[in-house]
This record gives sequence, C-alpha cells and structure tokens, in this order.
Amino acid sequence: MSILKKDIKFNNGLNIPQMGLGTYQLKEKDEIFEAVQAAIEAGYRHIDTAMIYKNQKAVGEAIKSTRVKREDIFITSKIWNSSHAYEDTKKEIDVILNELGIEYIDLLLIHWPTPKRLECWKALEEAVIEGKVKSIGVSNFLVEHLEELLKVAKIKPVINQFELHPALTCKELVDYCKKHEIVVESWGTLIRGKCFEVEQLNQLAKKYNKSEAQICLKWAELNDYVIIPKSSKKQRVIENANIDDFTLTKEDLDLIATIKEQRDGPDPSNFNF
Ligand SMILES: NC(=O)c1ccc[n+]([C@@H]2O[C@H](COP(=O)([O-])OP(=O)(O)OC[C@H]3O[C@@H](n4cnc5c(N)ncnc54)[C@H](OP(=O)(O)O)[C@@H]3O)[C@@H](O)[C@H]2O)c1
Repeated sequence: MSILKKDIKFNNGLNIPQMGLGTYQLKEKDEIFEAVQAAIEAGYRHIDTAMIYKNQKAVGEAIKSTRVKREDIFITSKIWNSSHAYEDTKKEIDVILNELGIEYIDLLLIHWPTPKRLECWKALEEAVIEGKVKSIGVSNFLVEHLEELLKVAKIKPVINQFELHPALTCKELVDYCKKHEIVVESWGTLIRGKCFEVEQLNQLAKKYNKSEAQICLKWAELNDYVIIPKSSKKQRVIENANIDDFTLTKEDLDLIATIKEQRDGPDPSNFNF
C-alpha cells in the first residue's frame, strides 16, 4: 500500500496517517503555501506544526486553500516549553486553535519534558474532555519521563515524537514505547538534511537509484515509525513520498545499523529549559 494511504492506530482507537509534512523552519507565507499545497496535492493528509514554529496562521490558511475537508486532514501541534504551567497550557491551546483557524486539534504534544510537564499533561487531558483535542501525546520524552507520566496519567499518551533516524536509533526508547502501546514518531528522519553525507546511505541510494532521503524514509517506514520530513520545495515534498517502489533487505538494514550514532538536536536529558 502507498505510504500516503497508510494509517497507524493509536491506543485510543484513532488513527494517524503514517506520513506527514514537517513544517519546522518554514516561516515565509509563500514557502509555507508552496510546501503545504504540494503535500496535499500529492496526497499527504497530515501536517506537523508547533506553537514555537510561529507559522500556524499561514499553515492553517494553506490547508484551507486546498479545499480538502477539515476532517480529512490530520493536524499536530505542540505546547511550547514556556507554557507548561497548567493555566498557561490552557491559554496556549486556545491560541493554537485560533491561529490554525480550526475547531479541534487532532494531536497535541508536550514539546519537551520541562519540569512543569505533568501540569501541562493535566491541562491536555481536560482539553480532550472539552473536545478541543482528539489525541494527546509527548515529544522528546525519555524512558524516565514516560515512566513518570504513565504513573499519573488518566489518559495514556498515544505517541512520542523524538529525534530518530539511521544515525540515532534509540533502541531502548523505541522498545519501551512499543511495549506500552505508544506510537513512535521520528523527527529529523533525514538526519535533518545530513543523510547525503553518510557513506552507507550513499551506497544504498546508488543500489536502488533512490535518494539518501528516500532510503531514510523507507528505513523508518519499515520500522513502523510515523514520519514527517520537512521540505520547503515542491519537488522534494513529492520525492519524499515516492518510496513505494522499493524496499530494503535484511543486509541493507544491517548496513544501516553500522552508521555511527550521533544526535543532531538537543539532548532531552540536559536540554536547557
Ligand atoms: N518535536 C520536536 O522537538 C521536533 C524537532 C525538530 C523537528 N520536528 C518536526 O519534524 C520535522 C522534520 O524534522 P526536521 O525538519 O528537523 O528535519 P528533516 O525532515 O530530517 O530534514 C529537513 C532538511 O532536509 C532537507 N530535505 C528535505 N527533503 C529533502 C530531499 N528530498 N532532498 C534533499 N534535502 C531534503 C530540507 O531542506 P529544504 O527545506 O531546503 O528542502 C531540510 O534542510 C520538522 O519539520 C518538525 O515538524 C520536531
């Protein structure tokens, strides 16, 4: 089945399209419209944004401009770190709804595990009951943060979105999420554009006549991760979804496993909140 038609089921019974468009660093209205319209025209039905990306208004307008029905598009946003106090999260949820110009958010995440993360979670749970949010989850949570949350949560997180790619495989965290029915979502799947510099990925790209970006995305698809590659360019948005005509063998996956592990973004265990 085409990656753009695949859904992954949450522990609350709802689905998320396995592939979406990331929008981090898309700032200008023109590039936001180009990327979002290209994605939806190509068949993407899932867009990932966040309060801190400062692009939600244009993202919402770009989605509306495609005239695809609201209920057919899956929209994720995230509560920024400075708003994790209970009352601040409540306020930020309304700002997100207002900026995106929508009545409900499909998936709302705690962006990073700040010291106020549990207060934030309580406000997210209430937003589900109020009908403002369909599903709630976390981002950049380590095993210790998940263990703590699972002890107190009235609603279980459906997903954990974290840096995860062929050069950062996070085995223990992935296994923990899978064991607790928390869907794994990869950010930075293309090693944030650095996949072209990795010898093992160069080899596989050559072997399959695909780009290194497509090799990374196929690797993530085969692991059942939700993927949200970002590109500001129409051709690349289309290219990133064009991964249905090949697969990777056990030997290819073994080769990928030899890539040197290296985190590109901040480390959640010592991120300076
Ligand atoms: N939860 C979090 O803390 C967190 C953190 C980071 C990101 N995210 C989310 O995850 C999404 C993806 O992560 P990311 O944007 O950091 O990294 P990414 O998707 O791994 O890589 C994006 C980079 O790759 C380039 N690129 C994309 N497709 C390409 C292709 N086919 N060929 C060549 N270059 C290509 C893009 O450049 P061009 O735009 O010039 O094409 C951009 O520089 C974000 O947009 C955001 O929605 C979440």
